[in-house]
Amino acid sequence: MKKLLSVLLAVLMVFALVGCSKKEEGGEAADTVKIGVAIYQFDDNFMTLYRQNIQKYFDDLNAKGGTQYEITIVDGKNDVAEQTEQVNTFISQGVDAMIVNLVQTSSPALAQAVEDSGIPTVFINREIADYKYGTKTCYVGADARDSGTYQGQIIFDQPNHGDLNGDGVVKYIMIMGDPENSDAKFRTEYSIKYLTDNGVAVECLYQETGMWDQAKGQELVASALNAYGDDIEVVFCNNDGMALGAAQAINAAGRTVGTDIYLVGVDALTECCEMVKAGTMTGTVLNDDQGQATAACESVLQLLAGNEITTKVNYVPYVMVTAENADQYIK
Ligand code: BGC
Repeated sequence: MKKLLSVLLAVLMVFALVGCSKKEEGGEAADTVKIGVAIYQFDDNFMTLYRQNIQKYFDDLNAKGGTQYEITIVDGKNDVAEQTEQVNTFISQGVDAMIVNLVQTSSPALAQAVEDSGIPTVFINREIADYKYGTKTCYVGADARDSGTYQGQIIFDQPNHGDLNGDGVVKYIMIMGDPENSDAKFRTEYSIKYLTDNGVAVECLYQETGMWDQAKGQELVASALNAYGDDIEVVFCNNDGMALGAAQAINAAGRTVGTDIYLVGVDALTECCEMVKAGTMTGTVLNDDQGQATAACESVLQLLAGNEITTKVNYVPYVMVTAENADQYIK
């Protein structure tokens, strides 16, 4: 009798164990990882490519079977209050990890809330100056100084180093991105620094912020062309979105890129690479949306696995794009 009982008990225990592991295999908690992605603004050419790459990275992983990643991407609409609410919602929902493209980097308040939540998070694209990342957070971006330097180099490599009218001074206008973003500051500074470091005399005729936006870029360049006319030899735009707008204004004013004016941007959007190839834009700089998105997703997986990212600030390199290599970056 005793023997029978213990055999029965053993059989029951085996059933119980099998039952448990079945539950874990099929259970939500064990198999679905929830990732909240907060983008500063959907209506941004570069960040649109970036978020599509993030989605694709996890779609590809999901297609392989195994752990499934449920990605929720939200639009901060360039509004600090809106984004704060979105990130706080992710935190209260208890997502497993986050990718955050901050609207505001001049205040570390939201980043601090993320740190306090203890949720593994990768910040992207907008770097918070002098920020101390915790054990579960890190940053993926690019060193904007380099993109500015490449813009300056593209102009320096033109005949007369950009001085189209040969009067000894390169007269330029600067269309800046959102000053909240250090990319805007560094591109503005380093593009000109390259020229002056190489002995080129420059004069800034006009400098305004177009907030990374094509329509604003067009407006600003149109009004600068109106005010300064043929004096403008170079149009520097902190990104390609605004350079697309600038190109429209340049055409409307009857000016010809490569002949009587130069135009440079940053990002290497396909449209711009086609223009660089055709000569209707002087050059751009690859801001590697795919490389950065991949690095960000890989960092999320590392953090989820419980590993600390030791390179807290991970810069993906920029590449100078001119007529010679533009083909390579047309997607
Ligand atoms: C890109 C811009 C974009 C901005 C958004 C920059 O790195 O060059 O095109 O608008 O990031 O924060």
